Amino acid sequence: MTDDTGTFVDPLDLAVQARRQRRSLRRLGRLIGRSTRLVWASGRGLFVALGVIQVATAAILAGQVLAVEAFLSAVLVLGGGDSIRPLVGPVALLASLLAAAALLGSVQGYLKRYLGDAVARRTQLEILDVATRVSLREFEHPRFYDAVQRVQVSASTRPMQVTQALLAIVGSAAVTVGVGATLAAIDPLLLGLLVLGGLPLLVTNRQESRLEFAFTVAQTYPMRERGYLTYLLTGRPESKEVRAFGLGDPLLRRLDTLWGRYRHDLARHLRRRGGLSLVGNALSALVLGATFLVVVLLIARGRMGVAEAGAAVVAIRMLQGQVQGLLAGVQAIFEAGLFLDDVDAFLAMGPTADDAESGTPAPATFDRIEARGVRFTYPGSDVEALRGVDVEIRKGEVVALVGENGSGKTTLAKVLAGLYDPTGGEVRWDGTPTTALDRSSLRSRVAVIFQDFVRYAFPANENVAVSDIGTAIDERRVRRAAADAGADAFLTALPEGYDTMLSRLFRGGRDLSGGQWQRVAIARAFYRDSPLVILDEPTAALDPRAEHDLYASLRRVLDDRSAVFISHRFSSVRSADRIYVLDDGQVVEHGTHDELMAAGGLYAELFTLQAEAYLSPVRTDGA
Ligand SMILES: Nc1ncnc2c1ncn2[C@@H]1O[C@H](COP(=O)(O)OP(=O)(O)OP(=O)(O)O)[C@@H](O)[C@H]1O
Ligand SMILES: [Mg+2]
Repeated sequence: MTDDTGTFVDPLDLAVQARRQRRSLRRLGRLIGRSTRLVWASGRGLFVALGVIQVATAAILAGQVLAVEAFLSAVLVLGGGDSIRPLVGPVALLASLLAAAALLGSVQGYLKRYLGDAVARRTQLEILDVATRVSLREFEHPRFYDAVQRVQVSASTRPMQVTQALLAIVGSAAVTVGVGATLAAIDPLLLGLLVLGGLPLLVTNRQESRLEFAFTVAQTYPMRERGYLTYLLTGRPESKEVRAFGLGDPLLRRLDTLWGRYRHDLARHLRRRGGLSLVGNALSALVLGATFLVVVLLIARGRMGVAEAGAAVVAIRMLQGQVQGLLAGVQAIFEAGLFLDDVDAFLAMGPTADDAESGTPAPATFDRIEARGVRFTYPGSDVEALRGVDVEIRKGEVVALVGENGSGKTTLAKVLAGLYDPTGGEVRWDGTPTTALDRSSLRSRVAVIFQDFVRYAFPANENVAVSDIGTAIDERRVRRAAADAGADAFLTALPEGYDTMLSRLFRGGRDLSGGQWQRVAIARAFYRDSPLVILDEPTAALDPRAEHDLYASLRRVLDDRSAVFISHRFSSVRSADRIYVLDDGQVVEHGTHDELMAAGGLYAELFTLQAEAYLSPVRTDGA
């Protein structure tokens, strides 16, 4: 979650903001409007049906008071030995009203569940839409994950909470008016007292909402910690290592400790919330007691008949529930409001500069891409990963990046792929700085496969075609890309060929070896029809023959596309048109293999080291 300046809002600030929120009528109106629009859009028919049920329920409740009064009146005029026929009507009425209320109650339950799900679906999609659009930078901040976690829960439950509260308020208000009028007719003082009894709750409820919000915000991070441990203990790739290292018990203990900490916090939270609730309800009960006392006094003074008194007691009991329901409704809306503001802030998170969707579309092809003095610092880091890098890629060229671990190769690949804007210097496509180009069109011109490419739990053909998912899968192109990447033979041999699910997570799924997966990823890069292909260590897991074949055919496969590839194996780097040697975020040398060898710098040193390791006799003396 970010504020206007793009910096993260601390959860503590959230709590402070929440405290500042006024419970004004305007805010209430805004919250109701926002939630109702969402629920309406998610399922208007269900929403209307629920409204109708709510009003009908209110009418039934008011009818019950009248039925009780009729029943008591009939009982009171009944002499010994009289027929009980006059009672039948009121009893039958009361029984049918009770049955109708129960029936409506259960129908309402089902409808609410179904509507709630419609709302959850809509909001989930909204949130994931934002999550796939926000800048990659957000993913460098733990607080982003907190926000995602929190808003997913809030967005799927809170709007429905507001709507339910709204429906309840409508219902309660209808009953309160109906039954209240009946009660006021009996004695206005009773109605006044009842309303008074609601006031303490109004105050304590407000405090409770804030406690709840603060608790949720504070618990998001610990909840993610527990979630991560659960994921480690249940994930498929993790399962091997968890067993091999005997991590099961220690991780379970760690999880248990975290749960213990949470339960401790929860107990404290519940005590505080419970205390507030106790105070509010005790004060309300006191006023209610006083109300009943007034009824007794009125009977004693002969100002109220017994039937009237009976009806008054039922009405008071009913109204008290309704007034509380009304207040609870208002409270629920304000409480949900705190969470919804949080959700709205998340949804308002726009793309940052790296993702500008304005600017001219990137050209379909290029003659020359140049990086000039490119610097890059990861968000939240204070060390530069790139410190003034110059590279050049011409149409149809194969360019290699080499350098030791952490020298900045992957970072440069991300900048060249348009995933990050440089923090200094620029990348130019035929002279146009990439910052002037529409970033999504820029990315569409690049096919990049990272070291940690994704193994999608999708069928094989989709695993290749994900790189161009916008169009229908072209099976012929999939096969050609797979063949070029050396993946066709083993994919064809799968039980269902290219339709085989490549994951054991789903039915009929198969898994591949590490090198086979890497070939699928390379096929992915070839499938995408883009003028620049970037491969970050594409052959690290390939066997020597597969690697040799790949590089031998690379130029033919690329046709006139350009490629940037990163490799630690100098045998594959040799044939590149130009090699850039990175060291500590800078290009320290560049040129062809022969030029670099002749220069006798870092490249020559690393190359010789590797070549010698292959050819020199094995040393067993440990020296
Ligand atoms: N997400 C990140 N946040 C902060 N620093 C990072 C991040 N990713 C990488 N770095 C740092 O940036 C520097 C360059 O990393 P980079 O991944 O580009 O290296 P590399 O040359 O690809 O290394 P390797 O050969 O191990 O893949 C390293 O010091 C690394 O620790
Ligand atoms: Mg790397």
